[in-house]
Amino acid sequence: MLEDVVRFLICPYCAAGLALAERTLRCRAGHTFDVARQGYVNLLPGGSRPAGSGDTAAMVAAREAFLAKGHYAPLARCVAQHASAGEIADDGCVVDVGAGTGYHLAEVLARLPARDGRAPAGVALDISKYALRRAARAHPRIGAVACDAWTGLPVRSGCAYLVLNVFAPRNGAELRRVLRDQGRLVVVTPTARHLAELVPRLGLLNVDERKEERVAEKLSPYFDLVDRHRLEYGMRLTHGDVRALVAMGPSAWHTDPQATWARLAELPEPFEVTASVTVAEYRGKR
Ligand SMILES: C[S@@+](CC[C@H](N)C(=O)[O-])C[C@H]1O[C@@H](n2cnc3c(N)ncnc32)[C@H](O)[C@@H]1O
Ligand SMILES: [Zn+2]
Repeated sequence: MLEDVVRFLICPYCAAGLALAERTLRCRAGHTFDVARQGYVNLLPGGSRPAGSGDTAAMVAAREAFLAKGHYAPLARCVAQHASAGEIADDGCVVDVGAGTGYHLAEVLARLPARDGRAPAGVALDISKYALRRAARAHPRIGAVACDAWTGLPVRSGCAYLVLNVFAPRNGAELRRVLRDQGRLVVVTPTARHLAELVPRLGLLNVDERKEERVAEKLSPYFDLVDRHRLEYGMRLTHGDVRALVAMGPSAWHTDPQATWARLAELPEPFEVTASVTVAEYRGKR
């Protein structure tokens, strides 16, 4: 619920705290933000619509369908294990930047224990309203907020003891600002072997071989790497699963769907595809 996370949010204009009254968030300077019927709030300045470079309705629907089949469940479990291994602060929250449908954040919250009757809340940040509608319902303790991760996160400095970033944009300075000094950042990126069987057959976008290094390099002014490992497993996908996988990813913007589906029809079913990601854990530099 948005109520659970309001105390962690700040006004995108003046950085003051926000209070919820009726269905409006308001800062002390009088900037107001309406809570959408679907339960998320738009904190994009200038009343910009939460769409931008974010995932479209079709991409989000495809992501939801694919995740519902459990193909990324091992990844969500791995992220949740990282999450529950660290210190849990009573007064902090978990922030997921580019949270999408809230799938990974929900898994993390489900695993974090309540203490003194209080369970941690999660802030799902995304620029896509289609994603946020889902994220708002993904777990009872998620509050979903529209923002542009590149321009700034509408979250109080140092309020997160855990920040998640799964296949999503990384603004190092902002990730560091919202993380408390003892907190941890968990970043998941695809490796060059991710979906390797599909990439050449369907003409999908390649993952850069140096992705892992580039991510670490970009974060290095703000974070120290404390752990990094590869998670790799096979997924047995139906043609429907492959369609969803293509439609939810970056290739959805770049490929010619007709040609892609014609090539898909040639593949055996089910088709074995490798999931290969790097899961990295960072601590903030002081
Ligand atoms: C590949 S999806 C990953 C979603 C989710 N983390 C998951 O793994 O299921 C990337 C997400 O980042 C969001 N996104 C893209 N650009 C963004 C931006 N500038 N600010 C915030 N979110 C953004 C997209 O809308 C999308 O939901
Ligand atoms: Zn304000």
